[in-house]
Amino acid sequence: MSAWTPESWRGKTIRQMPTYPDQDALAAVERELADQPPLVFAGEARALKAQLAKVARGEAFLLQGGDCAESFKEFNTNHIRDTFMVLLQMAVVLTFAGQSPVVKIGRMAGQFAKPRSADDETQNGVTLPAYRGDIINGIDFDAASRTPDPQRMLKAYHQSSSTLNLLRAFAQGGLADLHKVHQWNLGFIEKSPQGERYQHLADMIDETLAFMSACGISPDNTPQIRETQFFTSHEALLLPYEQALTRRDSLTGNWYDCAAHMVWIGDRTRQLDSAHVEFCRGIHNPLGLKTGPSTDPDELIRLIDILNPDNEPGRLNLIVRMGADKIAEHFPALLRRVKAEGKQVVWSSDPMHGNTIKTDTGYKTRAVDSILSEVKDFFQIHSAEGTHAGGVHFEMTGRNVTECIGGAFQITEHDLAERYHSHCDPRLNADQALELAFLIAEAVKKARR
Ligand code: PEP
Ligand code: CO
Repeated sequence: MSAWTPESWRGKTIRQMPTYPDQDALAAVERELADQPPLVFAGEARALKAQLAKVARGEAFLLQGGDCAESFKEFNTNHIRDTFMVLLQMAVVLTFAGQSPVVKIGRMAGQFAKPRSADDETQNGVTLPAYRGDIINGIDFDAASRTPDPQRMLKAYHQSSSTLNLLRAFAQGGLADLHKVHQWNLGFIEKSPQGERYQHLADMIDETLAFMSACGISPDNTPQIRETQFFTSHEALLLPYEQALTRRDSLTGNWYDCAAHMVWIGDRTRQLDSAHVEFCRGIHNPLGLKTGPSTDPDELIRLIDILNPDNEPGRLNLIVRMGADKIAEHFPALLRRVKAEGKQVVWSSDPMHGNTIKTDTGYKTRAVDSILSEVKDFFQIHSAEGTHAGGVHFEMTGRNVTECIGGAFQITEHDLAERYHSHCDPRLNADQALELAFLIAEAVKKARR
């Protein structure tokens, strides 16, 4: 394999890349970004890798979640706080009810670029470039907003920086203190069965904390009680942006993509000749690789060898996104092959991207039942093979949206129009996400026994 550099991807097959009309303007933005401070540090990415190694060994569980696409318009403190709090709630359910330490990673502070199935979109006889996420172009259907604008990368960088600043404050500044578990319940779910179940669990945590305090274990001597570690991730899709934030770590001399702790390669850009695979192989962050129904076992092994040549546990997270109706057919063969080859990977389930449907009224949606069914099959297949179901990957929000159908509030196709805010794929709302966390906690506990 030829030598890697932060820009060696440019010599490979580049898919899903926008066509910027002004190349000089693009180059100027890349230079400006390259002068900006990194968003995360190499040492943090290494800490995440060490935690993911525990997940790979079956000693911890991975919870990854957040927006399908962050947007400039939905950027506000409450939105970030609410999504963070639901992730904390899910994590506490998985830790306490599932009896497993939980590694928390947000699809936040950089999850802006979207792969699309078609380059263009036609409406009423007018054809314009497809919307590719706010870091690239605007969602409104007019020529000006749909034209890719490199300045958007700078805006996305600054928004990511503010988001990350807030997340760090939430994680370490008191909000994540286990004594606050009751306050994480968001108003609109308090009265739902999930909300009540959660209150019950929070009561038990209160009692446990009181007991531990009586035994001398308190936030003063045990910081894990008053703060948490929260990591960021996004799809490494817009490579000029990722390259500009890639820096050499002064301690180890290794390259890290300092735009996020972890980045992943999407299902549409994971070919062996792909620029995205080339870029990711040289950075030392933990990596995700989406694994869909078209993944061929031989190709997967070659990808693993390229992305994790030292077979280092925690480096590679295979994010399985088959669809509820396909997982039983496609996943067991992949799992057996990876196991037979002795590859050390984290296996996690993304039960969202294989279960998207379109309603007659034109909404993209997902049924909570299909999502649950795919996760259950994922656990079951692991248990049959004696391997570890390491984690889950969700598109979700703390907002009370109506984007996925089903759940305790029985959202129907008819309700979707009410609060459908996603810029891309339909997300679970807080109530649906919490319901899934309780169900997964059962599966985690069972698998540990
Ligand atoms: C995503 O995670 O938003 C996504 C586009 O997923 P995939 O590449 O698996 O389709
Ligand atoms: Co998505």
